[in-house]
Formats: sequence, C-alpha cells, structure tokens
Amino acid sequence: MAEGQRWADSVNAWENWADGMASPADRINRPLLDLAGVQSGQHVLDVAAGVGEPSLSLSQMLGDGGSVVASDLVPAMLVALRRRARAHLHPPLPVAADMGALPFADGIFDRALCRFGLMFVPDIIAALAEMRRVLRPGGAAAIAVWGPRADNTLFNRLGMRLEADYGATAVRLLAPLFRFADPAALLAAAGQAGFTSIRHVPLSLLTPARADLPFWLPTLEMAFSPLLSDLTPDARAALHGRIARDFAADADDTERVPVALSVHLLRLGT
Ligand SMILES: C[S@@+](CC[C@H](N)C(=O)[O-])C[C@H]1O[C@@H](n2cnc3c(N)ncnc32)[C@H](O)[C@@H]1O
Repeated sequence: MAEGQRWADSVNAWENWADGMASPADRINRPLLDLAGVQSGQHVLDVAAGVGEPSLSLSQMLGDGGSVVASDLVPAMLVALRRRARAHLHPPLPVAADMGALPFADGIFDRALCRFGLMFVPDIIAALAEMRRVLRPGGAAAIAVWGPRADNTLFNRLGMRLEADYGATAVRLLAPLFRFADPAALLAAAGQAGFTSIRHVPLSLLTPARADLPFWLPTLEMAFSPLLSDLTPDARAALHGRIARDFAADADDTERVPVALSVHLLRLGT
C-alpha cells in the first residue's frame, strides 16, 4: 500500500481521536519542543503534521509571537487540521507537501519539527536534506521517532494480536513505525544530509491504561485504519473482544504502560 493511501484512509480516525488524545500528545510535544529550543519570535515548520501535532499546540503557545507552517503529504489531513484550528486565533498555515520536495525557499525557518513522520518516507536523506535547506544558518530540526517495539506495550500487544489474526497486512502497517528504533541509520542520514551537530535523546514515558477501559482503541484505530476498514462490524466487535482479553491477561496493578520514543536533534552551523 502506498503511504499516501494509508494516511488518506486514516484521516477520520486521527481527527476523531485528536482531542481525546490531547494529553498524551502534550507529554510528547513538551520534550520535543524543549529539545528543539523553540522560542517566541521564531518561524517554525512542522512536516508530516497530520491533523496538527505539534503544530496546533505550538501555534497556540507562540500566539502572535512567531508563526507555524504545518505541512503534510495528504491534503485531507490538513483539511482536518483546519477544522480543528477553527477557534484558534493564530492557526498554523497548512501547506500540502511531500517532505522529500518542500515548496519553500532556502533558509526561511528557524526550526523544523517532525513528530512520527520520517519513518514513512522512502528516501530519508532527501527528506532531511530538504529540512536542512529550508532552515536558516544556526537553525535546528527535531525529529521524534518510536523506540523499540518491545518497549512500546500498546503497539506491541496490538501488533501481536493483529499479526496473529491478519498476517502480512498487519506486519506491513506496523513495521515502519520501528524503522528508527535503532538510531544508527537516522544519525548517519542526518550527517549525509548536511547537519553538523547531531544528538539522539531516548525518552521513556508512561501512558494511562485503565484495565476497565478500552485505552488501546485510539492506537488501534489510528495505526491500523486501512486494516479495520476491511472488517465487518461483527468482525470488528469480535476483534475488540480478543484485544480486551489480551490486555486483561497482561494487566498488572500499575494502570500505566510504557512508551519509548526518541528525539533526534539536528543542528546547522552558523
Ligand atoms: C503517524 S502520522 C503523524 C502525524 C502528526 N505529526 C502527529 O504526530 O500526530 C504520520 C503523518 O505522516 C504523513 N506523511 C507520510 N509520508 C509523508 C511524506 N512523504 N511527506 C509528508 N508527510 C508524510 C502522513 O500523511 C501522516 O499524516
């Protein structure tokens, strides 16, 4: 399946869950924006922005002291982002673009951000080189990627169930998520793309997982929409039952599950 189609099929799920997922989104945005050194007055590009994280949170934070461009391959994602930003005084500017060929002049952004997008791009050196090209001297890019699958309980448990039940379709949707769990390839590509200082910061978070609630449903729908859309309502309900039993069997008394990610901080010399 082409990446564009995967994400076009996923827009509804991402838009439906976006507000409900604001708190986990914030726990990821904060270290990403801190490490990027985003400050008032900056012009910031968010690539693979989807329905709007981190660009929506950031544009609210910056207010009129800065500006944010939100770009994504899939125009429908940006239509959803616009809807989500309706009540915002300072919404990001949405621009449809493949991150391998950005439609921006050289050197115009202070920061470039990418939250969970780079792993879906075939040619990451080209995408990173584009980020470098549009950054001003002294600028920086911050790129969030997932850590090892085994350290991401939600993805891992859902993945085991879906791979057992649906085989290759589930494997195809899950595998790209962990493409940079080992940071070596991304670090090497950043050097080849011309970044001069490169830092890898692994992060571990805990996300609430109340055993009596389907805490796994947003992740299921956002990561696996193309697979779910082929299921009848009965098949979907039966799958939900199997997943609930899987998590109940695993449950401990912490009501939190581990999330592992890392931020790659890529800087340009002045
Ligand atoms: C997992 S979502 C992340 C969205 C958002 N950054 C977030 O964290 O909520 C991945 C996004 O990458 C976008 N994407 C995939 N390939 C892309 C490409 N080549 N250029 C730009 N965006 C791309 C998809 O359309 C999708 O919106």
